[in-house]
Amino acid sequence: MSRKKVGILISGRGSNMSALIEATKAPDYPAEVVGVLSNRAAAKGLEIAAAQGIATASLAQSKFPTREAFEDVMTRVLESWEVDIVCLAGFMRILTPEFTLHWAGRMINIHPSLLPLYKGLDTHARALADGASRHGCTVHFVTPGLDEGAPILAAEVPVLPGDDVDTLSARVLVEEHRIYPEALRMLAAGEVAFNS
Ligand code: GRF
Repeated sequence: MSRKKVGILISGRGSNMSALIEATKAPDYPAEVVGVLSNRAAAKGLEIAAAQGIATASLAQSKFPTREAFEDVMTRVLESWEVDIVCLAGFMRILTPEFTLHWAGRMINIHPSLLPLYKGLDTHARALADGASRHGCTVHFVTPGLDEGAPILAAEVPVLPGDDVDTLSARVLVEEHRIYPEALRMLAAGEVAFNS
């Protein structure tokens, strides 16, 4: 079995990244993580990946004259790792249409809401403010529109009386760690494909 090479983009703690790395340790998993790239040098996830012998890189966007220049270098780093699939895992930068189109069908993201509800930031607080009774997370293909690409998998959790952002986000995160490895497996195995 030839395993697809995966690059993960992070900005922070990297718990979804860790869930993906753990999943790839199964001998029959159809993908391997070949590199982790962060736009923040202090991202905790970089240490976790490096400790497992995975290549890491950090690029400070502020050092680049334009967003395009920054993304060109990201693509060069990813291509130097011969990446087949890019997983966004808490990567807190808006990507240009050019970058998303370059990786169309090969780049996926985990978003902490039941898309198309609550695109963008502060999803848990917004669900609570609305008095939503259900919330969750979605893995989707990345397209130029923010959080608009076709969904691959979603998981629902209840919003319980007394929930705050911490309790609700923790409940959703358990599901993120379950569905992200499964969605990546489906993409790597060719069970799902992007039709734009
Ligand atoms: C997750 O909630 C993910 O859904 C969102 O950003 C958060 C990243 O957390 N896109 P982690 O870095 O994977 O722990």
